[in-house]
Amino acid sequence: MQKVNRVFLIAIFFFTCDANTKNAIEKSRIDSYHYSVIKKIIAGNGAVVSAHPLASKAGLEILKMGGNAIDAAIATQLALAVVFPNAGNIGGGGFMVARLSNGQLVSLDYREMAPGKAHRDMYIDPDGTARTDKSQDGHLASGVPGTVAGIFASMKYAKLPFAKLIQPAIDLAQKGFVISQREASSFNGLQGELKKFNTVMPVFVKGSWKAGDTLVQTDLANTLIRIRDQGAKGFYEGSTAKLIVEEMKRGGGIISYDDLKNYVAKFRVPHVFDYKGYQVVGMPMPSSGGVLLHQMMKMIEGRHIASMGFQSLQSVQLMTEVERRAFADRAEFMGDADFYKVPVKAITSTAYLQDRMKDFDPSKANVSSRIKAGNAIPYESEETTHLDVIDKDGNAVAITTTLNNSFGNKTVVGGAGFFLNDEMDDFSIKQGVPNMFGAIGGEANAIMPGKRMLSSMTPTIVLKDGKPFIIVGTPGGTTIPTSVFQTLVNIIEFGMSTEDAVYKPKFHHQWLPDTLDVEKGFPKSVRESLKGMGYAIRERSAIGRTEVIKVLPDGKFEAVADNRGEDAAEGW
Ligand code: GLY
Repeated sequence: MQKVNRVFLIAIFFFTCDANTKNAIEKSRIDSYHYSVIKKIIAGNGAVVSAHPLASKAGLEILKMGGNAIDAAIATQLALAVVFPNAGNIGGGGFMVARLSNGQLVSLDYREMAPGKAHRDMYIDPDGTARTDKSQDGHLASGVPGTVAGIFASMKYAKLPFAKLIQPAIDLAQKGFVISQREASSFNGLQGELKKFNTVMPVFVKGSWKAGDTLVQTDLANTLIRIRDQGAKGFYEGSTAKLIVEEMKRGGGIISYDDLKNYVAKFRVPHVFDYKGYQVVGMPMPSSGGVLLHQMMKMIEGRHIASMGFQSLQSVQLMTEVERRAFADRAEFMGDADFYKVPVKAITSTAYLQDRMKDFDPSKANVSSRIKAGNAIPYESEETTHLDVIDKDGNAVAITTTLNNSFGNKTVVGGAGFFLNDEMDDFSIKQGVPNMFGAIGGEANAIMPGKRMLSSMTPTIVLKDGKPFIIVGTPGGTTIPTSVFQTLVNIIEFGMSTEDAVYKPKFHHQWLPDTLDVEKGFPKSVRESLKGMGYAIRERSAIGRTEVIKVLPDGKFEAVADNRGEDAAEGW
């Protein structure tokens, strides 16, 4: 009975405004267990797309209240921290790319930071063994969280008071929300690790979760209330900071009061490049995403890929070789540019990229012949999450935020109710040792106190005639830049519908391991031909959860949520 009431209340809270706007939108719905999920929407006043229907609805509510896209993105992001604890977070970090209604381009870095006590060899045993177990799980795996600082930095462009933006998240944590089958399975699969990596058992620990159960997160609600009332200090100082530092002490972590107090989100100059008349706005270092996308797009630009056709042998092979080359550069050159001189200009110059493609042979696989170390490791789930928002004034926002692995380091801060990240694994913990995504790195991405670990997150906005055209991003670890690349090529070069561009199977090459990953459903004949050309092929169940908002010729917004998850679009 209690469950039914909660479902009913949530439904009332979120659906009452829909009635007035029915005529303004076109929707295609699929049925979920307890509420409908909109996978595609066309709307005139604003649109939101994210990994969870309740988070997208929270953003929509804010737009309807008169908030702009930044307001809605903040509300969506905070709601994700409650309803999508796999990756939505306040204990992790992220990046925001925005194009404001006045034409200003913004990129905001709130990536986690290595704690003051971190050092280059902190995950290497005296005998030289790299301890990926410690960089991937438990207290020592955490970087200093940046999300809350990022949210307050982005308030610079918001219209509504913060208290309004965080309220949907507080309500969802306090009153609870009904979980789906997928969420129940995910919590059930986590029980062993939760018991292993927590000193105070969190609400997620339970004999068995099932679809229809309600998840109430009282500790998290109280943390969000402290943030509402005290601002960023409600997280980085006072009771929440004390709970984090005490948690660190109980579990052998190293994040200190000073680390928390000194964390700052940084506005950076967006990484911008032109592609056939479009302006692509991406994230600069410490994300590799903007530069990788730039390299990949430019390496195909003069090669008439449109005439090769979508997922033809020719186009897939070309894109694979381009991906291989970009990722080889990632391993060698990329890291936090505040600590390491990343040669961005050089590696994105036309001459350099032409030279990179000099040995491209359309008849056979190139070989990642500089392999010195790094065996292929099994893929783990690659959790991060992405959201897009656009409003009627032309403010457009792309945010990708992460705990790194699904549920981060699997530790919930005792008494504070949120998961911590395991982002330290995104550093190169030892030269040549692959991280959880199989990516390797070296000096550029070595650990140093205060440094931010290299990311693949690629929140991106494509402008046409200076106005927002495509807003895109995805989770997926190292598959993020290649998924964004393919989505843009699908739309811009192959002229595909937004749904097809998002839903059709993707593929991924990252230099090392020298394997071409193809998603289930990838055409068998192309796969066999690629094998014949010398590619080692590995099939994967899903690549990314790409969210796209596209501005249509009539100015309406088409938002498409990936069907690989319970992602949802909203608009009005
Ligand atoms: N943690 C995934 C990324 O930032 O690339």
